[in-house]
Amino acid sequence: EQIEKSGYEHFMLKEIFEQPKSVHDTMRGRLLVEEGVIKMAGIWDHIERFKNANRIIIIACGTSWHAGLIGEYLIEEYARIPVEVEYASEFRYRNPIITDKDVVIAISQSGETADTMAALKLAKEKGAFIYGICNVVDSSIARITDAGSYTHAGPEIGVASTKAFTAQLTILSLIALKLGKHNGNLGNADFMSLIAELDAIPKKIEDVLSSTHELVQNIAKDFVNATNFLYLGRGYNYPAALEGALKLKEISYIHAEGYPAAEMKHGPIALIDENMPIVIIAPKKGHYDKIVSNVQEIKARKGKVIAVVNNGDTQVSEMSDYVIEIPETSECFSPIVASVPLQLLAYYIAVYRGANVDQPRNLAKSVTVE
Ligand code: AGP
Repeated sequence: EQIEKSGYEHFMLKEIFEQPKSVHDTMRGRLLVEEGVIKMAGIWDHIERFKNANRIIIIACGTSWHAGLIGEYLIEEYARIPVEVEYASEFRYRNPIITDKDVVIAISQSGETADTMAALKLAKEKGAFIYGICNVVDSSIARITDAGSYTHAGPEIGVASTKAFTAQLTILSLIALKLGKHNGNLGNADFMSLIAELDAIPKKIEDVLSSTHELVQNIAKDFVNATNFLYLGRGYNYPAALEGALKLKEISYIHAEGYPAAEMKHGPIALIDENMPIVIIAPKKGHYDKIVSNVQEIKARKGKVIAVVNNGDTQVSEMSDYVIEIPETSECFSPIVASVPLQLLAYYIAVYRGANVDQPRNLAKSVTVE
């Protein structure tokens, strides 16, 4: 096992550090920047189904569901196809309306999640076209779908998903850009600059890992005894906030909630006092001015702000108690980069609390019961 961990203390840390490679592997052979092409046989062979789809329904659980929410933003923004994102367990039991004009995308790292499998079977019975995004090759979900794309993140052993999540975001980015280019909603110049930006993401993850690793360890030490956390983000980074909170809950057993930053004033603001740490994702692109006012509201109530901002940021940084800098990228790809320090933060808080990060209590790597 020590050999498999390649010198890292836990699989989770190893997998966090593998992300420059896993994201690159997910794009390899698909993203051809110089030719200006995204090659995805699974999409291309069924392009008419996507083109004529009334809507896309994304079905998943847990972290994969968070990836699905970001997929919704990506596909609606670039391909202009309506998207709904459903928890597999809810979808299955609420007599949903599904027709043969629907495309259902199932996202599952393991490809064995029982709720996702059951929801897919139902959608299939009603004639929908089923597309899978799985990490485990030849898994049950990969086998029952009509077509799909593997994430190629490599085996994920840590129960808390890290590299599979960023690989799912990478695949969803490729799908959204490919569909948008094909159906004419995404012009060539924008397409070219977005694919160049996506191609640069592995290097940006590498930079974040080296520039924030030590800093995040130090921040984590100050929150070992925290009992609650709030994670806030807007737009594409709202689901990233949900995912950051889930990571912390799963492995450190600290209660954490993710929220869209603007929703804070509709309730969670009542929780804020000097004992409430708030992680706020505030990249320059994407509602930055609004986030600035959210941070002001938090500081007025003495909340402790840990801000994830772009390199060289001043406004949010000046007001924050802790600042984690990440490189700038297009708003739509920023969750891929911003998630990395949040994974490290959850990891180190859990390690300092003495928790078993690779095998958290009550959790299994794949949930094969409904
Ligand atoms: C992720 O950290 C969790 N362990 C969990 O939420 C997981 O994402 C969920 O059970 C779905 O798993 P899947 O992607 O293998 O279907």
